[in-house]
Amino acid sequence: MIWFVTGARGMLGHRLVERLAATGHQVIPAPRDLDITAAEDVDRALASAGADVVVNAAAFTAVDAAEADEERAIAVNGTGAGNVAAAAARHGAAVLQISTDYVFDGSATEPYDEDTPTAPVSAYGRSKAIGEAAVLSSGARAAVVRTAWLYGPGGGNFVSTMLRLERERDVVQVVDDQVGQPTSTDVLIDALLALAPGVVDGSMLGCYHATCRGQTSWCGLASEVFRLAGADSGRVQPTTSAAYVRPAPRPAFSVLSHRRWSEAGLPDLATWPDALRAAYPGLSAD
Ligand SMILES: NC(=O)c1ccc[n+]([C@@H]2O[C@H](COP(=O)([O-])OP(=O)(O)OC[C@H]3O[C@@H](n4cnc5c(N)ncnc54)[C@H](OP(=O)(O)O)[C@@H]3O)[C@@H](O)[C@H]2O)c1
Repeated sequence: MIWFVTGARGMLGHRLVERLAATGHQVIPAPRDLDITAAEDVDRALASAGADVVVNAAAFTAVDAAEADEERAIAVNGTGAGNVAAAAARHGAAVLQISTDYVFDGSATEPYDEDTPTAPVSAYGRSKAIGEAAVLSSGARAAVVRTAWLYGPGGGNFVSTMLRLERERDVVQVVDDQVGQPTSTDVLIDALLALAPGVVDGSMLGCYHATCRGQTSWCGLASEVFRLAGADSGRVQPTTSAAYVRPAPRPAFSVLSHRRWSEAGLPDLATWPDALRAAYPGLSAD
């Protein structure tokens, strides 16, 4: 199976290319200068790639900046995702479109089912919801793979920030009223590897949630990072979203159900504490 990966220099994309290559898969990282908003360039790239599956890991991911430039966010996350899927459809490739918990408003109290109608509250979330719809209506064999609270080597992310702050500060204040499922890039990649054959053969299409099992708050995640780093987790103090206002509103409850994943008979993904330990083996205080 030949994989084509857009956003191949991003946190997820670079790790996916690395993992695929290390496990003997044929992988083509999209050229550095391939802009997914340029439909003809995307078409040309996929015409020559001969890929079986395309992972669209390219995205405008600056959640707060998207509030001030929603047009650009939609161009990349909406139109761009549609360009990738349409070209994949023309050239016979299946598509794995990476999406996000931010397509939901976060007002739920039970995990969001895959079929729950989207209701994003931020420009980034709206742009990703547009991308999901564009991919699913493109005519390509496609799965939308929603993940959340992503971290991993080689990318700026919450976990790497907490590790830095642990070294720099005595105390950090972290919001405790947003709940979600921290997910490592490696666990998401496990999910993509498990799902891809079913998307290629057309038996597993539509929306899937690929997040770690369990749930915690950002404060809970930060405390576990400190603990694993051998630091006193009491140095992580809870605060509220109201005390830490940012341009884009964040969903308060971002827990995604794995109903379709389980029904498809796919293997359970790791729990978030296990994934965190596996992602930073050098840290483990256990
Ligand atoms: N990070 C999270 O917490 C999180 C949570 C849920 C879902 N996701 C989703 O997971 C996927 C991967 O995210 P990530 O964290 O790996 O993001 P990332 O590190 O920001 O990587 C995104 C990549 O897309 C590239 N890109 C941006 N605009 C592009 C365009 N017009 N054409 C081609 N490439 C473009 C970026 O290149 P430049 O850097 O050169 O701009 C970057 O390499 C995205 O779909 C994101 O929405 C992320």
